[in-house]
Amino acid sequence: MPETKTLSTRWMVASDYDSVMQIERASFDHPWSLDVFLKLQRASSRSCIGMVAQYRSQIVGFVMYELLKSRIEILNFAVNPDYRRLNIGSLIVEKLKNKTIQQKRSELFLSLRETNLGAQLFFQKCGFLAEAVIEDYYQDTGEAAYVFRNRLERTGKEFAPGLSPTNRISKIMESG
Ligand SMILES: CC(C)(COP(=O)(O)OP(=O)(O)OC[C@H]1O[C@@H](n2cnc3c(N)ncnc32)[C@H](O)[C@@H]1OP(=O)(O)O)[C@@H](O)C(=O)NCCC(=O)NCCS
Repeated sequence: MPETKTLSTRWMVASDYDSVMQIERASFDHPWSLDVFLKLQRASSRSCIGMVAQYRSQIVGFVMYELLKSRIEILNFAVNPDYRRLNIGSLIVEKLKNKTIQQKRSELFLSLRETNLGAQLFFQKCGFLAEAVIEDYYQDTGEAAYVFRNRLERTGKEFAPGLSPTNRISKIMESG
Protein backbone atom coordinates (compact mmCIF):
# COMPACT_ATOMS: atom_id res chain seq x y z
CA MET A 1 0.00 0.00 0.00
CA PRO A 2 1.44 3.41 -0.95
CA GLU A 3 2.41 5.61 1.96
CA THR A 4 2.99 9.34 2.02
CA LYS A 5 6.69 8.80 1.43
CA THR A 6 6.17 6.60 -1.66
CA LEU A 7 3.37 8.65 -3.19
CA SER A 8 4.60 11.94 -4.59
CA THR A 9 2.50 14.81 -5.86
CA ARG A 10 3.43 17.58 -8.26
CA TRP A 11 1.86 20.07 -10.65
CA MET A 12 0.17 18.58 -13.69
CA VAL A 13 2.16 19.21 -16.89
CA ALA A 14 1.38 18.63 -20.58
CA SER A 15 3.12 15.25 -20.66
CA ASP A 16 0.69 13.98 -17.99
CA TYR A 17 -2.44 14.55 -20.09
CA ASP A 18 -2.47 11.06 -21.68
CA SER A 19 -2.42 9.36 -18.27
CA VAL A 20 -4.85 11.86 -16.78
CA MET A 21 -7.32 11.38 -19.65
CA GLN A 22 -7.10 7.59 -19.32
CA ILE A 23 -7.99 7.86 -15.63
CA GLU A 24 -10.70 10.42 -16.39
CA ARG A 25 -12.37 8.20 -19.02
CA ALA A 26 -12.13 5.11 -16.81
CA SER A 27 -13.66 6.99 -13.88
CA PHE A 28 -16.67 8.89 -15.19
CA ASP A 29 -19.71 8.19 -17.37
CA HIS A 30 -19.52 11.83 -18.46
CA PRO A 31 -15.77 12.51 -18.59
CA TRP A 32 -14.28 15.93 -19.16
CA SER A 33 -12.70 16.39 -22.56
CA LEU A 34 -9.02 17.28 -22.79
CA ASP A 35 -10.20 20.72 -23.86
CA VAL A 36 -11.71 21.35 -20.42
CA PHE A 37 -8.42 20.48 -18.70
CA LEU A 38 -6.50 22.72 -21.09
CA LYS A 39 -8.88 25.65 -20.67
CA LEU A 40 -8.80 25.40 -16.90
CA GLN A 41 -5.02 25.16 -16.78
CA ARG A 42 -4.59 28.08 -19.16
CA ALA A 43 -7.13 30.31 -17.47
CA SER A 44 -4.64 32.02 -15.18
CA SER A 45 -7.27 34.44 -13.88
CA ARG A 46 -9.24 31.52 -12.51
CA SER A 47 -6.38 30.20 -10.38
CA CYS A 48 -7.05 26.59 -11.36
CA ILE A 49 -4.37 24.13 -10.43
CA GLY A 50 -3.83 20.58 -11.60
CA MET A 51 -1.93 18.15 -9.43
CA VAL A 52 -0.97 14.54 -10.15
CA ALA A 53 -0.11 11.75 -7.76
CA GLN A 54 2.74 9.50 -8.83
CA TYR A 55 3.50 6.06 -7.48
CA ARG A 56 6.54 4.14 -8.75
CA SER A 57 6.82 6.52 -11.75
CA GLN A 58 3.19 5.97 -12.76
CA ILE A 59 0.44 8.59 -12.58
CA VAL A 60 -2.16 6.96 -10.33
CA GLY A 61 -4.45 9.88 -9.63
CA PHE A 62 -5.07 13.55 -10.17
CA VAL A 63 -6.97 16.49 -8.81
CA MET A 64 -7.97 19.81 -10.34
CA TYR A 65 -8.81 22.52 -7.87
CA GLU A 66 -9.46 26.23 -7.81
CA LEU A 67 -8.23 28.76 -5.32
CA LEU A 68 -11.13 30.98 -4.35
CA LYS A 69 -10.99 33.92 -1.97
CA SER A 70 -11.38 32.02 1.26
CA ARG A 71 -11.67 28.42 0.20
CA ILE A 72 -10.58 25.80 -2.29
CA GLU A 73 -13.00 24.05 -4.63
CA ILE A 74 -12.16 20.56 -5.87
CA LEU A 75 -13.27 20.56 -9.51
CA ASN A 76 -12.24 17.06 -10.53
CA PHE A 77 -10.58 14.22 -8.70
CA ALA A 78 -9.96 10.58 -9.61
CA VAL A 79 -7.73 7.64 -8.83
CA ASN A 80 -6.83 5.00 -11.43
CA PRO A 81 -9.38 2.17 -10.93
CA ASP A 82 -6.52 -0.37 -10.58
CA TYR A 83 -5.17 1.57 -7.60
CA ARG A 84 -8.36 2.29 -5.66
CA ARG A 85 -8.95 1.39 -2.01
CA LEU A 86 -5.21 1.67 -1.41
CA ASN A 87 -5.45 4.97 0.44
CA ILE A 88 -4.22 7.05 -2.51
CA GLY A 89 -7.34 9.22 -2.61
CA SER A 90 -7.04 9.84 1.13
CA LEU A 91 -3.39 10.84 0.78
CA ILE A 92 -4.29 13.32 -1.99
CA VAL A 93 -7.00 14.83 0.21
CA GLU A 94 -4.49 15.16 3.06
CA LYS A 95 -2.17 17.08 0.71
CA LEU A 96 -5.06 19.31 -0.30
CA LYS A 97 -5.93 19.99 3.34
CA ASN A 98 -2.33 21.02 3.97
CA LYS A 99 -2.40 23.29 0.91
CA THR A 100 -5.66 24.84 2.06
CA ILE A 101 -4.11 25.81 5.38
CA GLN A 102 -0.83 26.91 3.76
CA GLN A 103 -2.78 29.09 1.31
CA LYS A 104 -4.66 30.62 4.25
CA ARG A 105 -7.99 29.27 3.08
CA SER A 106 -10.41 27.87 5.60
CA GLU A 107 -12.27 25.17 3.75
CA LEU A 108 -12.31 22.62 0.98
CA PHE A 109 -15.51 21.86 -0.87
CA LEU A 110 -16.82 20.08 -3.95
CA SER A 111 -19.99 19.06 -5.73
CA LEU A 112 -20.77 15.39 -6.20
CA ARG A 113 -23.43 13.77 -8.32
CA GLU A 114 -26.31 12.39 -6.27
CA THR A 115 -25.66 8.95 -7.79
CA ASN A 116 -21.94 8.92 -6.94
CA LEU A 117 -22.33 7.08 -3.67
CA GLY A 118 -18.75 5.74 -3.63
CA ALA A 119 -17.27 9.24 -3.75
CA GLN A 120 -19.80 10.49 -1.18
CA LEU A 121 -18.71 7.76 1.24
CA PHE A 122 -15.07 8.50 0.47
CA PHE A 123 -15.35 12.23 1.19
CA GLN A 124 -17.40 11.51 4.31
CA LYS A 125 -14.56 9.25 5.47
CA CYS A 126 -12.16 12.16 4.79
CA GLY A 127 -14.13 14.40 7.16
CA PHE A 128 -16.40 16.19 4.69
CA LEU A 129 -20.04 16.87 5.44
CA ALA A 130 -22.87 17.06 2.90
CA GLU A 131 -24.23 20.54 3.51
CA ALA A 132 -26.38 21.47 0.53
CA VAL A 133 -28.27 20.00 -2.39
CA ILE A 134 -28.47 21.84 -5.70
CA GLU A 135 -31.23 20.44 -7.89
CA ASP A 136 -30.69 20.05 -11.67
CA TYR A 137 -27.02 20.91 -11.35
CA TYR A 138 -25.60 18.59 -14.01
CA GLN A 139 -26.80 19.55 -17.46
CA ASP A 140 -26.04 16.12 -18.99
CA THR A 141 -28.33 14.09 -16.72
CA GLY A 142 -30.24 16.68 -14.74
CA GLU A 143 -28.87 15.16 -11.55
CA ALA A 144 -28.69 17.07 -8.32
CA ALA A 145 -25.34 17.98 -6.80
CA TYR A 146 -24.52 17.30 -3.18
CA VAL A 147 -22.13 19.93 -1.87
CA PHE A 148 -19.58 18.38 0.47
CA ARG A 149 -17.48 20.63 2.57
CA ASN A 150 -14.61 20.30 5.03
CA ARG A 151 -14.02 23.30 7.25
CA LEU A 152 -10.44 23.41 8.34
CA GLU A 153 -11.06 26.32 10.68
CA ARG A 154 -14.48 26.39 12.19
CA THR A 155 -16.08 29.77 11.47
CA GLY A 156 -19.45 29.02 13.01
CA LYS A 157 -21.15 30.38 9.88
CA GLU A 158 -23.85 28.24 8.32
CA PHE A 159 -23.75 27.35 4.65
CA ALA A 160 -25.22 30.35 2.80
CA PRO A 161 -27.28 29.50 -0.30
CA GLY A 162 -25.87 32.62 -1.99
CA LEU A 163 -22.45 31.02 -1.84
CA SER A 164 -23.52 27.90 -3.73
CA PRO A 165 -21.04 27.00 -6.45
CA THR A 166 -22.08 27.52 -10.03
CA ASN A 167 -21.61 24.86 -12.67
CA ARG A 168 -18.10 25.96 -13.58
CA ILE A 169 -17.41 23.53 -16.38
CA SER A 170 -20.48 24.54 -18.37
CA LYS A 171 -19.58 28.18 -17.82
CA ILE A 172 -15.99 27.70 -18.93
CA MET A 173 -16.98 25.81 -22.07
CA GLU A 174 -19.68 28.36 -22.90
CA SER A 175 -17.22 31.23 -22.53
CA GLY A 176 -15.22 29.61 -25.33
C1 LIG B 1 -13.50 8.50 -4.86
C2 LIG B 1 -12.06 8.01 -5.15
C3 LIG B 1 -11.20 9.21 -5.54
C4 LIG B 1 -11.50 7.36 -3.88
O1 LIG B 1 -10.13 7.04 -4.10
P1 LIG B 1 -9.42 5.80 -3.35
O2 LIG B 1 -7.95 5.95 -3.54
O3 LIG B 1 -10.01 4.53 -3.78
O4 LIG B 1 -9.82 6.08 -1.82
P2 LIG B 1 -9.15 5.49 -0.49
O5 LIG B 1 -8.50 4.18 -0.76
O6 LIG B 1 -8.27 6.55 0.10
O7 LIG B 1 -10.46 5.26 0.42
C5 LIG B 1 -10.51 5.64 1.78
C6 LIG B 1 -11.84 5.21 2.36
O8 LIG B 1 -12.92 5.90 1.70
C7 LIG B 1 -14.05 5.00 1.60
N1 LIG B 1 -14.29 4.67 0.20
C8 LIG B 1 -13.50 4.92 -0.87
N2 LIG B 1 -14.08 4.51 -2.01
C9 LIG B 1 -15.26 3.98 -1.66
C10 LIG B 1 -16.31 3.36 -2.39
N3 LIG B 1 -16.29 3.23 -3.74
N4 LIG B 1 -17.41 2.92 -1.71
C11 LIG B 1 -17.47 3.04 -0.37
N5 LIG B 1 -16.51 3.63 0.39
C12 LIG B 1 -15.42 4.09 -0.25
C13 LIG B 1 -13.67 3.75 2.37
O9 LIG B 1 -14.04 3.95 3.72
C14 LIG B 1 -12.15 3.74 2.21
O10 LIG B 1 -11.50 3.02 3.25
P3 LIG B 1 -11.35 1.41 3.10
O11 LIG B 1 -10.79 1.13 1.75
O12 LIG B 1 -10.41 1.07 4.22
O13 LIG B 1 -12.72 0.84 3.29
C15 LIG B 1 -12.07 6.94 -6.29
O14 LIG B 1 -13.01 5.93 -5.98
C16 LIG B 1 -12.39 7.49 -7.66
O15 LIG B 1 -11.50 7.90 -8.39
N6 LIG B 1 -13.69 7.46 -8.03
C17 LIG B 1 -14.12 7.89 -9.37
C18 LIG B 1 -13.97 9.38 -9.56
C19 LIG B 1 -14.87 10.16 -8.63
O16 LIG B 1 -16.01 9.81 -8.36
N7 LIG B 1 -14.34 11.32 -8.16
C20 LIG B 1 -15.04 12.21 -7.25
C21 LIG B 1 -15.81 13.23 -7.96
S1 LIG B 1 -14.81 14.49 -8.71
